[in-house]
Formats: sequence, C-alpha cells, structure tokens
Amino acid sequence: MPTIRVLQVEDNQRDAERVLAELDGDGIAYEARRVDDEMRFVGALREFDPHIVLSDLSMPGFSGRQALDLLRQQDEDLPFIFVSSTLGEEAAIDALRNGATDYILKENPARLASAVRRALAEAEARKARRRAETELVRVQRFESLAMLAGGLSHDLRNLLQPLLLAGDSLQDYQDDPRLVRLGALVRDCGKRGLDMVHSMLSFARGARRAEQVRLGVLFNALDLLMRGSVPHAVSMELAIDDPQLSFEGNHTELQQCLLNLCLNAIQAMPDGGRLRIETAQTRLGTDFFLSREDPREGLYLRISVIDTGKGMAPEVLERMFEPFFTTKADGTGLGLLSCQRIVDNHDGLMRVDSAPGRGTRFDLYIPLEQQDAAKPEHPEHLEGAAERVLVVVEEAAQLSLLANMLDAYGYQAYACQSGTAALQWIEACGLPELVVLDADMNLLTGVRTLAALVEQGYNGAVILLAHPDAPPDLQGLPLLEHLFVIDKPVTTRMLLRTLRKALGA
Ligand SMILES: Nc1ncnc2c1ncn2[C@@H]1O[C@H](COP(=O)(O)OP(=O)(O)OP(=O)(O)O)[C@@H](O)[C@H]1O
Ligand SMILES: [Mg+2]
Repeated sequence: MPTIRVLQVEDNQRDAERVLAELDGDGIAYEARRVDDEMRFVGALREFDPHIVLSDLSMPGFSGRQALDLLRQQDEDLPFIFVSSTLGEEAAIDALRNGATDYILKENPARLASAVRRALAEAEARKARRRAETELVRVQRFESLAMLAGGLSHDLRNLLQPLLLAGDSLQDYQDDPRLVRLGALVRDCGKRGLDMVHSMLSFARGARRAEQVRLGVLFNALDLLMRGSVPHAVSMELAIDDPQLSFEGNHTELQQCLLNLCLNAIQAMPDGGRLRIETAQTRLGTDFFLSREDPREGLYLRISVIDTGKGMAPEVLERMFEPFFTTKADGTGLGLLSCQRIVDNHDGLMRVDSAPGRGTRFDLYIPLEQQDAAKPEHPEHLEGAAERVLVVVEEAAQLSLLANMLDAYGYQAYACQSGTAALQWIEACGLPELVVLDADMNLLTGVRTLAALVEQGYNGAVILLAHPDAPPDLQGLPLLEHLFVIDKPVTTRMLLRTLRKALGA
C-alpha cells in the first residue's frame, strides 16, 4: 500500500499518537495531520487532500458530527472513521447512518488498522464503479442521440424535398425577377438543410477511429471498471488466452460493448452466480455463417461473456436487440443495440445462447486477418454516384433506414411506402436507375408492383428483398433481365454490393 495521508480530528495529542501507533504496528505507511477546529479541518481537506479522516466525537468548539457533515458535502466516498471513547451503541448506528465508514473505540484500538485498510479498499472500489457507470451513461446518451439523429434526418429530408422542388419551379417564372430570386432563396435554404441532414446522418453512423487494440490492455481496463460493480455474490473470472494479441479496432468501443454485456450478466444474477469472460482465437469456415451474413472465412478473435443467471425466454431473445426493448424497471434497452453496432463496426459477428434457468452466453467474433494487404490496396467500392434509386417498402421504419443508408452512401434514394406510390412517383419524375423492392407488401405485392413497373417501361435492374422461407412467386412475370433477390433481413454490405452489381449489369 502506498503512503496514505491521514487527517486526524482530535484535540488530545496523546490520543492522536496512540491511534497512529496502531497504524505503525500494522506497517501502514502514512503522513498525518491533526486539526481540532472547523477552519483548520476545512483547510486541511483542501490542502492536505487526505485519503482518510479519523475523528474524535467531541472536542471544545467542534464535533465529529460537524466534521462528517462538512466532509460529505464535498466528497461522498472519502472514508471517515470515528475513533472515540464515548461512542455508545446508538450513537454508533447514528454515525454510520449519517455517512461514517466505521467507528472504533479508543479502549479497543486493535481493530483500527484493519478498519483503515478495508475503508480505503472499499472507497477505491466505489470510485471505480462510479467511473464505470459514468462511462456507460455517457456512451448510452451518445447512442440515443445517434438514433434520434438517424430518425430525425429522415423526417427532415422528407420535409425539405418539396422545398427544393418548389424552389426549382419558381425559377420558371423568368418574367418576374422577384419570384426567381425567391425561388433561388428557397432552394438555397433547402440545400443547406439537406447538407445538415447529411452531417446528422454521418454523426448517426458514428465517426470511428481505428487503432491497434491490445487484448491485455483492453481487459485490464475492463477488469478495473468492473471490479467495483461486481456484487459479492457474483464471482468474476477473466481468462485471456493471449494478452499480447493486438488487432485493428477501437478500444473505447469494445470496452463499452464488453461493459454492457457484463452489466447485463450481473443484472441477470441478483442472487449471485458466476461471470466468466474468456477469449480464444478460432478459424471460422463458411458453414458457420447464417444466410443473411457475408460468409467471410478466416481467423477470428472470440470474446465470450458467460453468466449463470436467469437466462432469456424465446420472446426476449427475439426482441433483445430492438431499440428501447427492456425487461428492467430502469433499463434504457439500448445496451445490446449499441453492442451490435460496435460489433458491426468491427466487421464482426455476434452469437447468443440462452435459455431460462440455464444462463446466457454471448460470443463476439472479431476478424483478425481481414485487414490484410488486400483491403487498403483494393478498397471495396460500395459508394454510389448519385444514381436515382426508388425504394419501395411498406414498413415505415425499414423504409426510412434503407433510404437513409443509401443516401449516406451517395445514392439519391426516393422512398415510397407502397407500390401505388412508386408508380405515381415514376409518372411524376420519370424512370429511376434502380428499384429496390420489398417482396412482402400487403396492398400491391412486390411481384405485382414489378409487373406494373415493367408495363410502364422500366427495364433496369430490380433488387427484390424476400424472406428466405417465403420466396416470391415470379411465375407469369414478364422476363426481367436483371433481377436480384436478397434474403431478409438485409445487411448494409450485402445490399450495397448487390447495388453495385446491379448497376454494373
Ligand atoms: N445476460 C443476460 N441475461 C438475461 N437477460 C438478458 C441478458 N442480457 C440481456 N438480457 C435481456 O435483454 C434485454 C435488453 O438488454 P439491453 O442491454 O439492450 O437493455 P437493458 O439491459 O434492459 O437496459 P440498459 O442496458 O440500458 O441497462 C434486457 O432487458 C434483458 O431482458
Ligand atoms: Mg443492458
């Protein structure tokens, strides 16, 4: 233990020395200062900056209770121990209730050294926990902001669209210069609004810094942050196979993701249990990947967070990644969503295994070798060049996400919530360069919309989003040369790739 600063509130020099002798006897290295009035006490808190306060109960003109109250006004965690000869049982309980850490009787000082050690250790743990909580609150606040920005930007875009069109139409009134000027103004405002929408979108996507993450450093930080939060009834084990391993990623993001998973695990074990975090390197073959995932074989880092808690029922498992889905009274329901985003940012995968009563296991897979020379030299070209893409999807949230995503990648997306709307759009604005179409629509089905599009003269490429277990019935359709079917749920990468392929075709 490093040298600690001990502030004694005591009017009796001899008593003060006796207390310090206990610390000497236990080999605790310290620097001590003694005060016995309010002014010096407050001054010493500031200048001496003690690690711990040892206080007598009463002295002429000042009292331990006053000292305690003064301390607690500025520091909730600093240990404060009453050392007194007169403390009765009731007074002791009262002292503890008012924020004292412990109390020791002068007649029986043997307990003092161990009480000091324990108080300091507990204060350290409390501080670590506070840091962890502050960090989590900060990132979750960021997360909700990013989601809000994502949602708002779509609404704003819809709102600005007519402004741009109106501005353009006013340009037609060439014989009235005032109208032309007004038109230019309106269009200008609309454009600037759109720019703002775009910067909101890039914020929502999260500006991310890639760096070399060292596994050992990542887990030391996690250990430090977690140690104070793990209740006594929960045992935590860390099994890091290769602390020296380093890989490309983002330290802060991964730390946040692991904190979220660990806190979830702890919250699932109110009556105690085991939290185990382990890492391993593993090679994933094509058979590991789900149909909607991009099967990228290779070496991965697996990070597993395993708890022996209450586990999840199927209906919770199904919804746990939904924004704001929570089963907790004070949960935000953003923890797992943010984990998902972070793992996606690392081009990684996530797997969950959980059942009621059996505990829960989250496995994160972070690719270790995909950033080989191949990537920087031939970065995959996924950006659009302002191609006009008509997106026809009935479900509003899905539609908004797709349109935003395409916009963010440099396409001009036009969102239609039904086949009929799509046909009207074409009538008003002409044929788009590409159509992305949901196969499962209720009013005018994807396939019938397709037929109508072809009738209107569309012969470009079509990307159909379909459920793998309910493939669209394409019988009786006029032959479409460039039809691409993607399984739902759609991933960004898959859609962007298919888009490039379709536009190339
Ligand atoms: N390890 C786990 N064991 C049991 N249930 C879990 C576990 N992890 C997540 N869940 C379930 O998934 C839900 C969503 O988790 P998520 O972390 O997204 O939000 P939350 O924990 O409820 O809220 P917050 O993270 O803001 O505290 C939880 O409410 C819980 O029902
Ligand atoms: Mg959570």
